[in-house]
Amino acid sequence: MPQTNPIFRVENVSKILGGNKIIDKVSLELNKGDLKVLIGPSGGGKSTLLQCMNLLYLPDEGDIYLEGDKVNPSKKAALYGFRQQVGMIFQDFNLFDHLSALENVAIALIKVKKQSKAKAGERAMQELDRVGLSDKADLYPAQLSGGQKQRVSVARALAMDPKIMLLDEPTSALDPELIGEVLAVIRDLAASGMTMVMATHQIAFAASLADEFVFMQDGRIVEQGSPQALMDCTPVSRTKDFCSKLAELYGEEA
Ligand SMILES: Nc1ncnc2c1ncn2[C@@H]1O[C@H](COP(=O)(O)OP(=O)(O)OP(=O)(O)O)[C@@H](O)[C@H]1O
Ligand SMILES: [Mg+2]
Repeated sequence: MPQTNPIFRVENVSKILGGNKIIDKVSLELNKGDLKVLIGPSGGGKSTLLQCMNLLYLPDEGDIYLEGDKVNPSKKAALYGFRQQVGMIFQDFNLFDHLSALENVAIALIKVKKQSKAKAGERAMQELDRVGLSDKADLYPAQLSGGQKQRVSVARALAMDPKIMLLDEPTSALDPELIGEVLAVIRDLAASGMTMVMATHQIAFAASLADEFVFMQDGRIVEQGSPQALMDCTPVSRTKDFCSKLAELYGEEA
């Protein structure tokens, strides 16, 4: 897809882990407000790619560009500055158990952005409100449902004013009845113009929102295009085949 001014760019990134090439020359571009969804079989490299995208894993080959600037991971200040601008949502929430919901959202504002406790608390409250949790601000993770914990982790990412959000199967650790509330928050984020890359098996949901499906297998992008183009096409695409197998597994929803 031709892009004029991508806000985020992955260029020919490869990553070797345990002696194997887990990501193999992957390139991806996002314009502001794009939502790209990573799909594909388990072990295909989705999580590894997302971790290369925020430079939690340093690529063995290739580069990451934010707003046109190549990030130099060997410069610590550049690396930390970059990571602050990339929000990451993990399957298992990654909250601090000893901090309340409000403190979980405020902590990076205080420690990393050096905001006063009062200012950080105010901002944290705004973000909790945005994900519908202002009444749970004083509760600890153990007192929250999985869906609520995931919404706190979204609020925490948003408080840092990220330029892009990376979501790695944000609903796959949740009981079915809690998935909807997290998907609603993601839908609102997409509507607000947030640039996002999300790995998910929620194909129907993803198809309703995504600008593009990116199908990964064996560390490579093997198909890429609009959900409609990939799911409607004949002959059957790998994406279509994969989605119908998921539908068999999870019932109609997928
Ligand atoms: N630290 C590591 N050392 C060695 N191999 C690894 C490491 N992390 C991941 N891998 C391998 O990399 C491959 C891709 O894993 P990854 O977790 O990125 O896949 P995925 O597409 O996210 O899968 P899933 O859908 O199950 O989440 C797998 O074969 C995995 O075993
Ligand atoms: Mg994964």
